Amino acid sequence: MESPFDVLLIDDDADEEEIEQAYRRRVKEAHPDQGGSVEEFKTVRAAYERVKAGYQGSAEVSEADFEDDPEPEQHTISSEVTYLNYDVLSDFGWETDDEDLFEKAAAADLAEVDYGQFRVQPDEFLLEAAEDRGFAWPFACRGGACANCAILLLGGELSMPVSHVLPAELMEQGFRLSCNAMPITDELQVVYNVKHMPELDDLLLPPQPFERTYPNR
Ligand code: FES
Repeated sequence: MESPFDVLLIDDDADEEEIEQAYRRRVKEAHPDQGGSVEEFKTVRAAYERVKAGYQGSAEVSEADFEDDPEPEQHTISSEVTYLNYDVLSDFGWETDDEDLFEKAAAADLAEVDYGQFRVQPDEFLLEAAEDRGFAWPFACRGGACANCAILLLGGELSMPVSHVLPAELMEQGFRLSCNAMPITDELQVVYNVKHMPELDDLLLPPQPFERTYPNR
C-alpha cells in the first residue's frame, strides 16, 4: 500500500503546480497505451484526487478504495458515457472549452440523437456501443487510419489499443478515435461528430463506408 504522494512521486508538501505536473507525468506513464495498465492508471487517478482534495498523507491508498470498481483487467471497464453532438454547439453559441458545456447541454432539452447517456460494456469500442444503441456516429476506415470517427474527450479516459494516426498534440487536446477506443474510467464525457474541426482536416478520409451504411443521412 502506498500513500497517494508516493504514487505521484512527490513530497507531501508539494505545491499545486508540482502536483499537477506530477499527475500529468504519472498518468501518461500509467496509461495502458503507454505500457501501464488499467489498474495502475486508476491508482494514479485516485491518488491525484486524494491529494487535490487536501488529503495530507496520514492515510494510505488501499484495496478498499477500489472495491466498487470492476476487476482491473485491461479494457474491461463498463462506463457511462454522456455524449453531445458537435453540430449543435454552433446553434447555441457554445464552444468545446466552455467549462459548463455539459450542464448547458443537459438543460437545453436536446434531441436524444444530440445529447444523452448510454453505457459501454466491457470490451466494447465506443463507436460500436453507440451503433448498438441505434446512433449513427460517423466513421470511415474503422481501423485507426483516419479521423472521421473522432470524438473530443472532455471527461474520463479511453484506451486506444490499436495503432492510430492521431499525433501526440491532438491526443493532448483530447481527440480520440471512437472506432478504436475503450473506456478505462467509469464515466466519460465526449463530444462526437467533431470530424469538421479544423485540427482534423488532414486526417479525414472520404466517408463512403458511412454513406453506404446510412444512405439517408
Ligand atoms: Fe477511421 Fe475510426 S473510422 S479511425
